[in-house]
Amino acid sequence: MARGLDVGTMNIVCAEKEGENIIFTQQRNAFLELDASELTKNMLDAAKVLYVQKDDKFYILGDDAFKFANVFKRPARRPMKHGIISPEEKESIPMIKLLVERLLGQPSSYNEILYISSPADPIDLNVNVLYHRKTMEALTRRLGYDTYVIDEGLAVVYSELGKYGFTGVGISIGAGLTNVTVAYLATPVVSFSIAKGGDWIDEQVAIATGLTKERVTAIKEKDFSLEKEFEIGSVEGALSIYYDALVTYIVQNLKRKLAEVTPPEAEFPIAIAGGSAKPKGFLELFERRLS
Ligand SMILES: Nc1ncnc2c1ncn2[C@@H]1O[C@H](COP(=O)(O)OP(=O)(O)OP(=O)(O)O)[C@@H](O)[C@H]1O
Ligand SMILES: [Mg+2]
Repeated sequence: MARGLDVGTMNIVCAEKEGENIIFTQQRNAFLELDASELTKNMLDAAKVLYVQKDDKFYILGDDAFKFANVFKRPARRPMKHGIISPEEKESIPMIKLLVERLLGQPSSYNEILYISSPADPIDLNVNVLYHRKTMEALTRRLGYDTYVIDEGLAVVYSELGKYGFTGVGISIGAGLTNVTVAYLATPVVSFSIAKGGDWIDEQVAIATGLTKERVTAIKEKDFSLEKEFEIGSVEGALSIYYDALVTYIVQNLKRKLAEVTPPEAEFPIAIAGGSAKPKGFLELFERRLS
């Protein structure tokens, strides 16, 4: 059997086949640091929280880090930024390592095949994904997997465009990045990313409204819709404005980048994935801007 692992700025998702079904397990790519004490330990144990102890600190991992951020009134820390290991966070690699170990576990057979997703280099930010890609590859190989890397955009093409002979444009609009791959008969013609996604919306709306970023994320993820009219000055109104700005920005950059390549004569259907494409009315907004 083989497994898949999508290491995202906001979520780490593992996919595994069980008979004909695919089982997904997921954790937020986040952690929360607390001073270790007997009292805190009892509380975390009682609440069955996922945590580890390192020296005199406890680290709450994954979804629980987000949940307990409110209780302890401190922000959950994120090991990744813009789709890659964050250079601003010194605990990045040990925390991702722990999360990946928990999600993936041991291989079920010797050298089990594992495909991991990787972002493509952004066209609008001076960073390079090589270090991230190689680090994730090494980390999963050390767990005993036979690891291969696939561009996130190409994974969308493989997942969604089979009935078009794997020809088309795969787009994943995540938290830190928007990844794009144009493929012709399952072969990538061009892969790139754009350094904006859900995190950018949250940051901009937080600045505009004075709310914390975490609060904005929660409101956005809880039945926000792009089909409704919102009151001027409301958080939802600000979310709509920045959603429109994000989609316009993505479409402009798609156009700019695609003008540089000469794809074969064929129809290129578009498949869109990623958490930021979830709100009702997103596809219609994307189609309007694209047309
Ligand atoms: N229902 C929802 N409505 C709007 N946004 C949502 C919703 N659910 C999740 N999101 C947003 O989607 C983003 C996470 O999506 P996803 O899991 O695809 O990203 P990722 O793979 O972790 O990040 P990246 O690919 O950029 O590294 C976050 O910005 C999150 O707030
Ligand atoms: Mg992603």
